[in-house]
Amino acid sequence: MKYNKGGIFHLKVKISDINIGENIRGELGDLTSLKESIKQLGLLEPIGITAEHELLYGLRRLQACKELGWQDIPVIKKHPRNQYEKSLMKRHENTERLPLTWQEDVIAKKHEKDLYEREFPETKQGSAGASSRWYNANEKISFAYTHIKAKLENKSRRSVEQDIQLAEAMEKYPQLANAKKKSHALRKLKKLVISEKRKVTQSKTAIAKKEHNIICADYLKTQMEQKFDLIIADPPYGISRDERFEADGRFITMNFGDWDYFASKDELLTFFGRWIKKAYLDAASDASLYCFCSDRILSYLIDIMEQSGWQYRTTIVWHKTNPAPHFRKTTFVSSCEYILYAIKGKPLFHFKSQKEMHNFFECPITMGNERLKDADQETLHPTQKPVALIRHLIQISSQEGDWILDLFAGTGTTAYVAETLHRNWVAVEINPKFCAAIGERLVQNLKAETE
Ligand SMILES: C[S@@+](CC[C@H](N)C(=O)[O-])C[C@H]1O[C@@H](n2cnc3c(N)ncnc32)[C@H](O)[C@@H]1O
Repeated sequence: MKYNKGGIFHLKVKISDINIGENIRGELGDLTSLKESIKQLGLLEPIGITAEHELLYGLRRLQACKELGWQDIPVIKKHPRNQYEKSLMKRHENTERLPLTWQEDVIAKKHEKDLYEREFPETKQGSAGASSRWYNANEKISFAYTHIKAKLENKSRRSVEQDIQLAEAMEKYPQLANAKKKSHALRKLKKLVISEKRKVTQSKTAIAKKEHNIICADYLKTQMEQKFDLIIADPPYGISRDERFEADGRFITMNFGDWDYFASKDELLTFFGRWIKKAYLDAASDASLYCFCSDRILSYLIDIMEQSGWQYRTTIVWHKTNPAPHFRKTTFVSSCEYILYAIKGKPLFHFKSQKEMHNFFECPITMGNERLKDADQETLHPTQKPVALIRHLIQISSQEGDWILDLFAGTGTTAYVAETLHRNWVAVEINPKFCAAIGERLVQNLKAETE
């Protein structure tokens, strides 16, 4: 008798006509899952017999079919030329059919599950699809698939789900496949999941802590909790003018905002006197101060610094390689900004080369992606300082773990650089809009670091 299985014709013979002969396998083991599979899918592989109907291989399948009440069974007829060849065939079937390794097994299950869900997508939906997951919790595993598979393998649904999750996790953590046993791999994975959760919590705590270091207030009214090794001040110094012009297709404004207006020079210098004195008190016994300022008030500021206790050391010139152009051609382009350097006690002065000690630094004003934008994609802050310049100052005057204070933080360039260089910092900024921007800038940075 012939029958058709997937386009291939096999012989069928009566089970009672098959002579089992000598059986190399002592025990047939539990046939439940094999019977379940045959019930659902039929006999996928025919058994092998000789022309005389002596069984060569497939005893478990034969027994399972018998127990299922089958009368006939699909066979392939083999023609061993002698007893030796016959015994080789029997041996081959029984010894070379190695069970899958745990790695192959879980990957195969995941593959099967994917195929099943592609075929029956509705089984992934709704409450029937919800299955408990401790790895990749956003993904659901088809309940129907795990149910069928569990029955086939005579295991629990939970164990099938666990295998699938392990296979998925191996894509992210290939090192899991090195585990000798599946149970070891599962233990390792649980540890990885826990440490990942901890990392997320730690990063949230770190962000919260950092946000605590952004003080949204007037510096003059702020009480500091610690002393600072380095203070960077980029204060308003009253250079705003009601001017606006177009250059290279973009509008350049000289009006930086209300924060940069003072009624008179006296008012400006009084403001400087107050914050410079307070900064001296907030500084550690050995500390450095960098203060951005305009050339118009340089000498006044040096006096104020010295009256407040600071020792003035030098004025650094920052040469901007891309300053705002000057169209009227009546004077020189303003391409320099000045940074007063003063100290208290004997602070760190850490430089790698003589060139780094020059009181001159050259770099463009903040451009491109570094320039923060508001919701309308407009420049968020008119005087955002370049990271390269601030990094230069921080590296020369501080080391890891030092406390840095930026008392007019704007977009938080100092805090941002301090964070990347593993310094502690406090940023004070009076404008809530800029405070929010500092928070966002740091959160993005911390997130990128922990991802
Ligand atoms: C020149 S900007 C600082 C820019 C900053 N260096 C950056 O890279 O973005 C000065 C900042 O000081 C803030 N400010 C003005 N008066 C303040 C005060 N009394 N206390 C704290 N911040 C103040 C302004 O809102 C402004 O954002």
